[in-house]
Amino acid sequence: MVLSGMIASWSFYLMHFYSGLAEDDTSIPSDIKVPILQSFYCHIYDSQWHFSCGTKEYKVLMEKFHLVSTAFLELDRRSASSSIPFFKDAIYLNNDSHSLLMFQLYFILLLNKPCFDVSSYIEFMASSYQEAIEDITKRMGAGMAKFICKEVETVDDYDEYCHYVAGLVGLGLSKLFHASGSEDLASDNLTNSMGLFLQKTNIIRDYLEDINEIPKSRMFWPREIWSKYADKLEDFKYAENSTKAVQCLNDLVTNALMHIEDCLHYMSSLKDVSIFQFCAIPQIMAIGTLALCYNNMQVFRGVVKMRRGLTARVIAQTETMADVYGVFFDFSSLLESKINDDDPNASLTRKRVQAVKDCCISSGLLNKRKFHVHNRKSYTSLLIMVIVLVVAMLFSLSRRKVLVD
Ligand SMILES: *[C@@H]1O[C@H](CO)[C@@H](O)[C@H](O)[C@H]1NC(C)=O
Ligand SMILES: *[C@@H]1O[C@H](CO)[C@@H](O)[C@H](O)[C@H]1NC(C)=O
Ligand SMILES: *[C@@H]1O[C@H](CO)[C@@H](O)[C@H](O)[C@H]1NC(C)=O
Repeated sequence: MVLSGMIASWSFYLMHFYSGLAEDDTSIPSDIKVPILQSFYCHIYDSQWHFSCGTKEYKVLMEKFHLVSTAFLELDRRSASSSIPFFKDAIYLNNDSHSLLMFQLYFILLLNKPCFDVSSYIEFMASSYQEAIEDITKRMGAGMAKFICKEVETVDDYDEYCHYVAGLVGLGLSKLFHASGSEDLASDNLTNSMGLFLQKTNIIRDYLEDINEIPKSRMFWPREIWSKYADKLEDFKYAENSTKAVQCLNDLVTNALMHIEDCLHYMSSLKDVSIFQFCAIPQIMAIGTLALCYNNMQVFRGVVKMRRGLTARVIAQTETMADVYGVFFDFSSLLESKINDDDPNASLTRKRVQAVKDCCISSGLLNKRKFHVHNRKSYTSLLIMVIVLVVAMLFSLSRRKVLVD
């Protein structure tokens, strides 16, 4: 049953991954893409269906859609063991892992910490998983199709787009956690914030990669924000516009900070340790990445990532909510120290950072944490060394879109 739970979440992520893939491929004209995204959820029952798109590894992945579909159908049959080949294939195929969300799965898989509890949900499981997955896939496809035909103009569009691609994944997962019997069902708003915070961080960090996308650039930064600083989003690439570019970046980071209190609230209500870690680690990576990106011109020149060693320590040492509050406190203090009074949004940024710090302080847990961002002492524990090795190995394999390296 543990395995079924994991396969459910694998299938779920792969569904997300596939529809994201179809959306990401700028070589496919919208009039072909839109109907596919809209009907994607119908195909999850059809192991014969496939659609050719993407390039390189993505193409291979897309051609193996039937594996995802088979695993999905497996859920109904409750015979998890026959899905093991799929499981291996999925790991292999996701060689080119592209998002934080996939990273969460690696994490769970590697540490052999299944996120679902064994006993309580046997008869409940199959149908509720399938429904959750189908419902979310359908809504996600429809939402993505909408944004193929429409640019992200306003801040509301930005929130809506992030809701479709990440908020809905969160909602699906919250349903799965609930169905597993381990967790209460979190409010939709809190869950959505978890997804928005991760997705916005990705969008902010990936400016250069998205703008240089071939054959056509992808633009997720909302016009309502960037138009305050430039005539065209591409203008930020050029050195002469770097002051404006960084101001715009800071504006977007300030926008993303808004979601943190909800995220902390969501995480603080989790009960199961594995689910807690599953959720908390990407959030910590996100606040770390935002603190790093803030006021950092490098976002317009190359890739900004957290140091490998820090990443490994986050994975190994995030155990409790005290650790999460501690890390959020440290990273918000780091971000705060980078605020320049000449920045047009300086006071709003300060206000939001202070709100996050207050939330961490008022938890009363700050002095109970074991993990410190600035702690550089070396580790001898075998476990930690193994994790570091595995992470290093994984990330040298994946070349694209991994937030944490
Ligand atoms: C996995 O990555 C390696 C190195 O990037 C590559 O040689 C191999 O073909 C990839 N496998 C798949 C299935 O994409
Ligand atoms: C959820 O968010 C919506 C839109 O932001 C808001 O109108 C609604 O009151 C929120 N619901 C809760 C329970 O906070
Ligand atoms: C810098 O930004 C301004 C205003 O957006 C634009 O007119 C100009 O062309 C940009 N410079 C470059 C080199 O793109």
